[in-house]
Amino acid sequence: MAANIIDGKAISAAVKEQVRDEIAHEELKVGLAVVIVGDDPASRVYVNNKKKACEFCGIKSYEYALPEETTQEALLELVDTLNADANVNGILVQLPLPEHLDEKSVIERISPNKDVDAFHESNVGRIMIGNYSFLPCTPAGCMELIHSTGVEVSGKECVVIGRSNIVGKPMAMLLLHENGTVTVCHSKTRNLAEVCRRADILVAAVGRPNFVTADMVKPGAVVIDVGINRLDNGKLCGDVKFDEVSEVAGWITPVPGGVGPMTIAMLMRNTVTAAKIQK
Ligand code: GUN
Repeated sequence: MAANIIDGKAISAAVKEQVRDEIAHEELKVGLAVVIVGDDPASRVYVNNKKKACEFCGIKSYEYALPEETTQEALLELVDTLNADANVNGILVQLPLPEHLDEKSVIERISPNKDVDAFHESNVGRIMIGNYSFLPCTPAGCMELIHSTGVEVSGKECVVIGRSNIVGKPMAMLLLHENGTVTVCHSKTRNLAEVCRRADILVAAVGRPNFVTADMVKPGAVVIDVGINRLDNGKLCGDVKFDEVSEVAGWITPVPGGVGPMTIAMLMRNTVTAAKIQK
């Protein structure tokens, strides 16, 4: 039997509408600064999508497109200026930065209560202990998609493939906060297929096209595909082999139209949260 498709586009649209209504009803004045350095085409697309979402929600967006050769000092100075600017509630520095720049020190310079990506050490620490204002956007979006299925996380076997700081690790934490039994897999995991087959909820964040095949999926499982891989033919493809896994899973996210749009919707939500915290 074919899986139910989880419609990330529709769910993200609902989140953005909720954010827009909240801003309107509470007459909030909300601003998001987006900093992009260099001209990576994928980053350009993401930044444009973030701007569009801001427009929809009634968030003022301030874009800072800096040249590739921007120095560390100049970038840190811009972050300082944005930290001090009362019109800017959220600051997002699009990653990856060009190689000569030190991402870590840039992220640590962002004021934690304007860190709408939740990448700052203090926000990461707060996620760990379950006392957070901002959820990291992609894992938070995955949780919304899981909730939309009606499948309860509590007591379930949850397997996350990938242990990045941006997705895998915080994803595991959010599932744990909802009382899932969580396993994190990575390149050194033995018997990966067997471990994945235990999962009632399987989250793939590997960055390898078509990595998760049908034999790795428990019949009826919820499968969340975080991968956005660009193939040689220009097409986007997830980490999950959609055609065959959708024959086994109970629920599955498509790529595109699954996790991707959710990340931006959750960024909008974090930006409103930031404005409220600062008020
Ligand atoms: N690059 C890829 N994903 C992200 C994200 O969520 N935030 C930022 N700042 N950069 C990214």
